[in-house]
Amino acid sequence: MSLKDNIRQKLENSAEFVSGEELAREFSVSRAAVWKAVKKLKDDGCVIDSVSNKGYRLVKPADVLSREEIKANFDKYSDSLDVIVLETVDSTNNEAKRMLANGFADNALILANEQTGGRGRLGRSFYSPKNTGIYMTFLVHTSLQLSSAVTVTTAASVAVVRALESVTDTKPEIKWVNDVYINGKKVCGILTEAVSDFETGTAAALIIGIGINITTEDFPDEIKDRASSVGALSPVRNKLAAQVANELMYICEDLNDRSRFIDCYKSRSMIIGKDIDFYINNEKQSGKAIDIDDFGALIVTLPDGSQKTLSSGEVTVRLMDN
Ligand code: BTN
Repeated sequence: MSLKDNIRQKLENSAEFVSGEELAREFSVSRAAVWKAVKKLKDDGCVIDSVSNKGYRLVKPADVLSREEIKANFDKYSDSLDVIVLETVDSTNNEAKRMLANGFADNALILANEQTGGRGRLGRSFYSPKNTGIYMTFLVHTSLQLSSAVTVTTAASVAVVRALESVTDTKPEIKWVNDVYINGKKVCGILTEAVSDFETGTAAALIIGIGINITTEDFPDEIKDRASSVGALSPVRNKLAAQVANELMYICEDLNDRSRFIDCYKSRSMIIGKDIDFYINNEKQSGKAIDIDDFGALIVTLPDGSQKTLSSGEVTVRLMDN
């Protein structure tokens, strides 16, 4: 662990002031090194009282992403994931692709504290400001047929919903295909990409990018009416990220076993039974969403009484009252 993390942990476990001298002695460093590490903790968002002749006392812990804390919350399903925490990156999905191109052969969870070019579905961007969200990508090597790999996008939203339900006291819902909403506003988006092996027709690697707004407040104008944050009590990012990993790796262990996620997906759907508009190639159509099949496709009744099955692809859906 870094000196900064050691000091943070020590302060978290002490209700009283801890002197700089004691910290320097315990971690075998100079007083100046302690001072620098405390400054870094303050830059991360920790509120620390510094009083001469007394030392340091943690008033409010920062929600700092930590590889060690994430790994400490892993269960048997996610235990073998490598965890990589970056301060700033263009996009964690791009980083996963670069790692693959450089021959990275393990499964990994890549997180960033900030993304400068966060990407969403259908060529949109994903707002990813510093310190206020979880921006993470699962890089998973598979030998799944491409058709089965598509299912992972449905599975990922279930993993997020289950993790939110177990770590926070929110009631998340899923807007088909895989946006997660709380109180009618989007708090999480998922962008799944695959690296395919054309010879075998398989997805050699899945790149599952998940962005969760935790405490983000000032959204850009174009999304501010639709976007919101989980608003969970801080610090929560490490525990929540780890729990998403636990849930997702459990499902990925056997993606063909749809009983691991499809019932949960349907029961948290905010769209079944609702009148919707949907867009195929920018052409607007209307209907009533009546069900979701075992493959995550949306079954819609059209005004003429016929039924249409929509699979994710290029379809976007808008609730009539949204
Ligand atoms: C969407 O809402 O359309 C999907 C958003 C996906 C955002 C996540 S954040 C981590 C990963 N890196 C990216 O650039 N995008 C995904």
